[in-house]
Amino acid sequence: MKNILVTGGAGAIGRNLLKALYAQHGSQMVIAGYNRTPLTGLPDGSLSAQVDVYDKERLISVVEEHDLDDGEIYHLAALLSIAAEKDPERARRVNMGGLKNVLDVAREYDMRVFWPSSIAVFGSSAPKHNTPQNAPLDPEFEYGRNKVEGEKLLNQFFDEFEVDGRSVRYPGLLTPGKPGPGTTEYAIEMIYAAVRGEHYASPLRHDTELPMMDMRDATRAALEIMKAPKEDIKVRTSYNLSAMSFTPEELAEEIRKHIPRFKTDYKIDDLKQRVADSWPNSIDDSSARDQWGWNHRYGLPEMTEHMIAEIQKELEILRNANGGVKYG
Ligand SMILES: NC(=O)c1ccc[n+]([C@@H]2O[C@H](COP(=O)([O-])OP(=O)(O)OC[C@H]3O[C@@H](n4cnc5c(N)ncnc54)[C@H](O)[C@@H]3O)[C@@H](O)[C@H]2O)c1
Repeated sequence: MKNILVTGGAGAIGRNLLKALYAQHGSQMVIAGYNRTPLTGLPDGSLSAQVDVYDKERLISVVEEHDLDDGEIYHLAALLSIAAEKDPERARRVNMGGLKNVLDVAREYDMRVFWPSSIAVFGSSAPKHNTPQNAPLDPEFEYGRNKVEGEKLLNQFFDEFEVDGRSVRYPGLLTPGKPGPGTTEYAIEMIYAAVRGEHYASPLRHDTELPMMDMRDATRAALEIMKAPKEDIKVRTSYNLSAMSFTPEELAEEIRKHIPRFKTDYKIDDLKQRVADSWPNSIDDSSARDQWGWNHRYGLPEMTEHMIAEIQKELEILRNANGGVKYG
């Protein structure tokens, strides 16, 4: 087994994936890449490196310094949907320029790459329900367009240079922690509000159904697709991936099974609603299931119960650290 670099290690997926990689490989083989703020709370003796993915020279020096040739890159550094919409130029630089640099380096140093795409690749031409693997890709927003270009690049590097890049189209991912500038993050905010005993004003309409996934399933998917035999990976753009779909109203109902007094209302955010309306309601991921054995473990009830328990623990720790003062 060779060394592994994770870019965007401080992000939502990065934090969770690093834990899973440390559990599998120990901390000595995994290099946690961060951009501006150094990572804290890493295991003793673990390795980290500052790496702006737009800076190819820096990327190369990290790969050489940490003996990453013939190893793996989990390339997670990116700008999420709402951030990309607000700063399209920066989004193109990070989301497409960063991926191009990673693929160039992977080609030169013979590295296997994991890079997540998103359900944001789909637009109005794709069927909304059970969107198939090969549905047309005509996203209306910058983030989705970046992901479509990224998928093409991954495919091209495989065809032309045999770079073994593997990818899944993640739905909205749910994990405790500060919600990022995305569209599906409302679900994380909602659960935090419920646990804090606050009411929540949803930025999306009550009936906006979106595909979602528990982060525990998402990190396992990344590890499993990277471990799959090369000949099993037949889609060299990106695999549809699915676990559950729900609306804000359905999530609120599920939360009320644990926190009966929780109340919601709706204060629609125009941009988030338009982005959400352009995405599928549910995804057909049978290619991933058939070809490399993908199988989700967590649905809405399991995810909600887990998130509530984890957030309760987190807020309890903060409350204690704040000398008993109510957090938030
Ligand atoms: N979170 C989701 O629901 C979701 C869904 C579908 C796909 N994805 C994809 O998964 C990947 C990771 O998403 P996430 O949720 O962890 O995002 P995140 O916003 O939580 O983390 C992204 C990280 O990238 C870092 N970053 C930004 N610009 C950088 C640069 N130039 N160089 C190095 N690092 C930089 C940020 O500091 C941040 O730590 C992204 O490609 C994203 O598009 C996420």
